[in-house]
This record gives sequence, C-alpha cells and structure tokens, in this order.
Amino acid sequence: MGQPILLERSQPVPNLHAPELQMLLQDMQDTMEAEDGAGIAAPQIGVLLRVVMFGIENNPRYPHVEPVPFTILINPEITILDQAREEGWEGCLSVPGMRGLVPRYRRIAYSGYDAQGQRIEREAEGFHARVVQHEVDHLDGVLYPQRIKDMTRFGFKEELQHYLGC
Ligand code: NI
Repeated sequence: MGQPILLERSQPVPNLHAPELQMLLQDMQDTMEAEDGAGIAAPQIGVLLRVVMFGIENNPRYPHVEPVPFTILINPEITILDQAREEGWEGCLSVPGMRGLVPRYRRIAYSGYDAQGQRIEREAEGFHARVVQHEVDHLDGVLYPQRIKDMTRFGFKEELQHYLGC
C-alpha cells in the first residue's frame, strides 16, 4: 500500500490464449501460496491486467472461514444479487500485518474465464462473495482500507486477534 500502481484501473486481458498469460498466472499463484494469501490480483505483482485468483482450504491466515474452491478468474464481472451488506474481517498481501472490518455485499453472482479460456459463472455468498469483491476491487484500484467505515476496526492482526478475537 502506497505503491501508486495499486490505485490504477487494470485493463481487460485481450487474448485469453496468450503464452504470457500462463506465466502471469503462475507468478500470481506462486506469490499467493508463498504468502498464504486467500487471493491475489495481478496489480499486486505489478501487472495492470484484469486477472484475479482466490481459494481457501486450511489456510493458516484464515482458520475460521468456510472453504472456497481455488479459482482463476480472467476479466471478471460481478452482479450484486442482494443489496444487503455484512461486515467481515479482511487482510491483504499488499497491506501486510493488518486487518480491517469491511462491509461487502452478502450475495453476488460472478463470471469470467479460467486459465483455459472457459467461461465461469457462479453465485457466491459469505466469505466466498467477500473474497471475490476484495480481489475485483484491486482491478479498479481500490484497497480494502478505503472501504472501512469504522477506522477503530482497522489495526495490526496480532492486536485485533488478542483484543477482539477476530
Ligand atoms: Ni488484497
């Protein structure tokens, strides 16, 4: 956070079958796994293309959330299915060591393309919907601290865990 590229809007991927795209996906996956991330967006490794990936299974950074299948999403689109929002704790590999309480839409549909160029269309709710909204925000230059309503609910992970049990 502070790196201007993270505040820029990313461009759609023009060719789903370009060899460079596979290299980008591998770099993103390696980075996400090395950092135990729940997700990552291309701008976080300095590439302004509309590519995200996410997935959570037995993640030590998120021990209490329901599993989300590992998903690559190229040129993602989100449709809000329910105007209701709920607050939940988020972290980000671009904001290391911190957590914040962020309102997100509870239920969404999302679509995009996988690494083979196949169309993906899904509905999601809860933490799954949260992760997708967080990652797609990165493609529009938005970091989660910009979404926090109550800044007393933003701080160092260890302190928040100790005092709030989050
Ligand atoms: Ni993030």
